[in-house]
Amino acid sequence: MADSGLRHPFKVVIVTGVPGVGKTTVLSEFKKKAEEEGLKVKIVNFGTYMLDTAVKEGIVDDRDKIRTLPLRRQLELQRLAAQAIIRDAAKELGSDGVLLVDTHALVKTVAGYWPGLPRHVLDELKPDMIAVIEASPEEIVARQARDKTRYRADIGGVEGVKRLLENARAASIASAVHYASTVAIIENKEGKADEAASQLLELVKKL
Ligand code: AP5
Repeated sequence: MADSGLRHPFKVVIVTGVPGVGKTTVLSEFKKKAEEEGLKVKIVNFGTYMLDTAVKEGIVDDRDKIRTLPLRRQLELQRLAAQAIIRDAAKELGSDGVLLVDTHALVKTVAGYWPGLPRHVLDELKPDMIAVIEASPEEIVARQARDKTRYRADIGGVEGVKRLLENARAASIASAVHYASTVAIIENKEGKADEAASQLLELVKKL
């Protein structure tokens, strides 16, 4: 069903969660499981789309610097990313496909918390579901510390992560209102990313 402007022909699932909670890890498990079951899946990372434009324009060359840019610059990158994601997905996915967008409901920028899923992004993505991947603040901080490929010190340790978790969950629910998206809270327990992926897959099959 591609109806009256509220949905795309393919399903759209936005996957959110604080930096380092394990969204990308859960999504790679999800892809394996979903393809074994014959589902047509496209996974994109919103930050990668923003970074591609930022690199082309010579503004930044590191994904963890995007959130330090002036906010009007981030806004423009955000708008272009949402448009490009849907353009690419529409070329690849038919009505039986699922697009999963790895992103953030709330970004901790240099100018304060900033919504990752404001109305202009949702008008492009039209999500069927917003999944919120969570873990305890202590686990998240330990994962951030183990992941040497990224800079996440600005997120603020256990206290900062705790505040971001609470506010990001609220931001996901606020974003869900615009397109009547379901909100699924999924626990990514230590060493159990495959369980979180299975849980997400069961929910996606019901959309
Ligand atoms: P982005 O690059 O999207 O961040 P990301 O790649 O999603 O990475 P995260 O930092 O969120 O980590 P993750 O949760 O995917 O964790 P991972 O799986 O790597 O965002 C970059 C920037 O783009 C943002 O800062 C922002 O500026 C911008 N941006 C993005 N979306 C935006 C939007 N909508 N609007 C505006 N700006 C936006 O895992 C981390 C570690 O944990 C790994 O070492 C992994 O092995 C480990 N791990 C994972 N799961 C488990 C587990 N169950 N047990 C033990 N270890 C685990």
